[in-house]
Amino acid sequence: MAGRIPQEFLDQLLGRADLVEIVNARVPLRRAGREFTACCPFHTEKTPSFSVSPHKQFYHCFGCGAHGNAIGFLMAYERLEFLEAVEELARFTGLNLPQAFSNESATSTRSLLEWVAQADRFYRQQLREHPLRQRAVDYLRQRGLSGQIAQTFGIGYAPPGWDSLGKALIKSGASAEELSTAGLISRDEQGRPRDRFRDRIMFPIRDRRGRVIAFGGRALDGDTTPKYLNSPETPLFHKGAELYGLYEARTHNRQLQRLLVVEGYMDVVALAQHDIQYAVATLGTATTAEHVDRLYRTVNDLMFCFDGDKAGRAAAWRALETILPLLRDGRQASFLLLPEGQDPDSVIRGEGRAAFEERIERAAPLAEYLFAELRAQTDFTSLAGRARLAELARPFLEKLPEGHFRDLMEKQLQQEAQLVSTRLRRPPPSVASPIDRNPRLTRTPLRKAIALLLYRPELAQLTPIIDPVFHEENKEESGVKLLVNLLAILRSNPQLKTAALLERYRDTREGAILEQLATWEPGVPEQNYHFEQEFIDILTSLGRRNALREHLPDMLMRRGTPRALSSEEREALRNLGRTK
Ligand code: UTP
Ligand code: MN
Repeated sequence: MAGRIPQEFLDQLLGRADLVEIVNARVPLRRAGREFTACCPFHTEKTPSFSVSPHKQFYHCFGCGAHGNAIGFLMAYERLEFLEAVEELARFTGLNLPQAFSNESATSTRSLLEWVAQADRFYRQQLREHPLRQRAVDYLRQRGLSGQIAQTFGIGYAPPGWDSLGKALIKSGASAEELSTAGLISRDEQGRPRDRFRDRIMFPIRDRRGRVIAFGGRALDGDTTPKYLNSPETPLFHKGAELYGLYEARTHNRQLQRLLVVEGYMDVVALAQHDIQYAVATLGTATTAEHVDRLYRTVNDLMFCFDGDKAGRAAAWRALETILPLLRDGRQASFLLLPEGQDPDSVIRGEGRAAFEERIERAAPLAEYLFAELRAQTDFTSLAGRARLAELARPFLEKLPEGHFRDLMEKQLQQEAQLVSTRLRRPPPSVASPIDRNPRLTRTPLRKAIALLLYRPELAQLTPIIDPVFHEENKEESGVKLLVNLLAILRSNPQLKTAALLERYRDTREGAILEQLATWEPGVPEQNYHFEQEFIDILTSLGRRNALREHLPDMLMRRGTPRALSSEEREALRNLGRTK
């Protein structure tokens, strides 16, 4: 993306989009007074505490604290990146994203997606209709898959001919050039277009929005190499970022708690066949930071499942190193190593779901796995060995972000390094419970004023009268500064709604505070007069406090004792002690 999206565009977008409509299309809402409510889509609950304010164009859950505007809702609900959410909203409202900022501005991307979608339909159709379809159907059946699960994952069949797909798509108007860019065909030595996938079981790879962007194709026999053939890197498909099965898992359960990271397509599909519908696979690559980042945006609990052989252990260790820097508080990781030579597909088919879930319960939390592996590298019984353990562990712990979890790990390391015998103590629970890092804001008049402004942005238009109360000195107070800024923004953009106002503070410290304040209920009757009055009162009294603060030392000198002050002045004096 080139630079930031222009503010005016975001204003326009948020001005036009209706959050109620956007939410309602995904989570049916019920009217409740001036708001709309539903059971929160972001946590499990039986009674609705999720509310959407049509006026503020802002949602808030009183249960889990989730909140935001239309962009934030799409990011959280559809798990989109900022730019993707903006695109989605633009499409919805019929606005055109400025060319330079659109991921899809190039029409070529759009047509590539279209050809890949057509290829997907073609492969599925071949599985139903091709004269040789029975071989493919038998193969799937022999691997224990039902028609239902094949349909869920959109499994298809690429027929054996040289150019079955290519011919069909070119007939529909594709150019060979486009098909080659989409990774669907290549050229042979004579330059003739050849289907990339021939006589293979096809696994479509979907992006987070469910659009097919690439394929994996498995040979039907044991001799063909490679066993799996994947789409190459294309403008649509980056192996290091995509995860097979993520879209399907999220579609199956919108409130996923955990994801199981496995190695193969067949592992994901076989697990789903046995009703474990939360597995995803990397696509023939090691787990990248991008993968992990994407996964942790979806759930807080990742379990990595590998073969117990040497390669599997190496892969698990690499995954561990990749996730350490991303282990913020509240996030967890654990490791499940299967018996040598087995993969999730063979284990679940051999043992069934219950036994597999037992294995899941027994998986090693990250801390345990880390120390177990390090212990295996040192002579744990000697003093020198324990010192060595500490030395080995240090670089790993240093990769962890600051926080509760890192502190716990440090403590555990100290214990490990001091232990006299290997079996002296059990390690402490190693995974931090999520902690709320945003202590609730206490209500002060200044914050109340800001909250009112967020509730009724038009109040800003009253303030020319009140402005002089903001004394130069007080403008240094961060809350006052924020209020002054909000007033300035609203005065030069009188049409701004709360949502658009908040958008300007996205990812800032002020933004975090504003978002909390936007969830406050003013608790006064629904009539502008009252809001106005209260707003003016607060600002006036803030002003008086300021004026008093300025003159107080003087007055004290003259009158000698606080007792001689009026009650208002004493109040101001008390506040002075509090706010300074
Ligand atoms: P595995 O070799 O472990 O195969 O590859 P598998 O998943 O158990 O497959 P089945 O059970 O024999 O069908 C794991 C993953 O590595 C990638 C694929 O993504 C595969 O799912 N891979 C493997 C390739 O990309 N190419 C290959 O030739 C082999
Ligand atoms: Mn396998």
